Amino acid sequence: MKIELKNKNIVLGVCGGIAAYKSVELLRRLKKEAANVRVIMTENAQWFVGPVTFEALSGHPVCINLFENGDDATISHIQWAEEADAVVIAPATANIIGKLAGGIADDALSTFLLAVTTPVLVCPSMNTNMYLSPPMQRNIQTIKTDGVIVLEPAAGELACGTEGPGRLPEPEFILDRLKACLTPKDLKGKKILVTAGPTREPIDPVRFISNPSSGKMGYAIARAAEQRGADVVMVSGPVDLPTPFNIEVIKVETAQEMAETVFSNMKDIDIMIMTAAVSDYRPKAQASQKIKKVKEELVLDLTRNQDILKELGAKKTTQFLVGFAAETERLEEHAGQKLKEKNLDIIIGNLVGSPTSGFQAETNQVTIFYKDGSKEPLPLMKKDEVAHILLDRIADII
Ligand code: CTP
Repeated sequence: MKIELKNKNIVLGVCGGIAAYKSVELLRRLKKEAANVRVIMTENAQWFVGPVTFEALSGHPVCINLFENGDDATISHIQWAEEADAVVIAPATANIIGKLAGGIADDALSTFLLAVTTPVLVCPSMNTNMYLSPPMQRNIQTIKTDGVIVLEPAAGELACGTEGPGRLPEPEFILDRLKACLTPKDLKGKKILVTAGPTREPIDPVRFISNPSSGKMGYAIARAAEQRGADVVMVSGPVDLPTPFNIEVIKVETAQEMAETVFSNMKDIDIMIMTAAVSDYRPKAQASQKIKKVKEELVLDLTRNQDILKELGAKKTTQFLVGFAAETERLEEHAGQKLKEKNLDIIIGNLVGSPTSGFQAETNQVTIFYKDGSKEPLPLMKKDEVAHILLDRIADII
């Protein structure tokens, strides 16, 4: 099921690092999703961002010092720890990671962290050499062994001028990982193969046949499955989407490349979900040089591509196979026919051509058709919601 941050109690720990400015944006994003956020800062964090900013955005007093904020400050960290659904420390400095690894509790944040029993996501951000230093790596290993989830820092140019790992990942990415921490791992141990995006069939070195698929539905399924604990391999045509975290993405161009990659990766797969908009035809021959406009009319000779899904349906043994059907008319009839002909367990049918559903849209309105002949029409919803409902149904069946 899709995890909503709405009404979840999230504690945001902010340490003294230059990336503390990004935690303001993270807080804003959390509030946008209607989470109830409380902020604990270290003394040094105040050098970078003032507590008033966090107070105004979170709507709660900020905890900095255990003994400064009146009578109940000394116990509020315990109460916050008991009420928290999840904790995110961003940015996490070498200092707080060292304290966490050593069990030291000498300020509000480190004391709070010892009292927490819910998932803790630590997002280290510091100079590359500090991050790669043996004590730091040792401490990271220790907290990981203790069950803390560590988000590896991104590589790039850092504020101190060095280049390498140490950057705090973007707030959207941290949010994605926070949701993953909260998502029950009902697909743990399952291997899932997803195809996504369009294919490109070259005509000559500068032209190709393709379609407007954005890959959003396939990427949403891959991300949802990863959040639920599955091992995900995605075979993706050319798309303009960020590479999702913790997913093996194999990039391909043509239908033939997609077919070969899918078949060579299907071993040990439990669930195969084919969302790709595969070109049904390709030019019989690819011109080696750019075709010049010398003729008044040009006819392209096309030949059929292999139907990857149909082939999988014929080859499959124990795998659960899901297809998609993009139709412009008679959805039920066409989807039902594809379900049978391709030997599928489920087919997701959608009528394409509307700006709110299908190609490129953020949302999709689909009907799930099952092998036993039943169907389940879903209302218009975001593609990640469709993804989670599909995975719910698959998890129920298998
Ligand atoms: N598919 C595939 N290989 C192809 C064509 C389609 O694997 N060469 C898969 C798609 O990924 C999708 C399903 O088959 O899961 C249905 O694709 P769709 O384009 O709707 O239908 P087609 O089978 O191509 O039939 P038609 O174009 O005649 O509607």
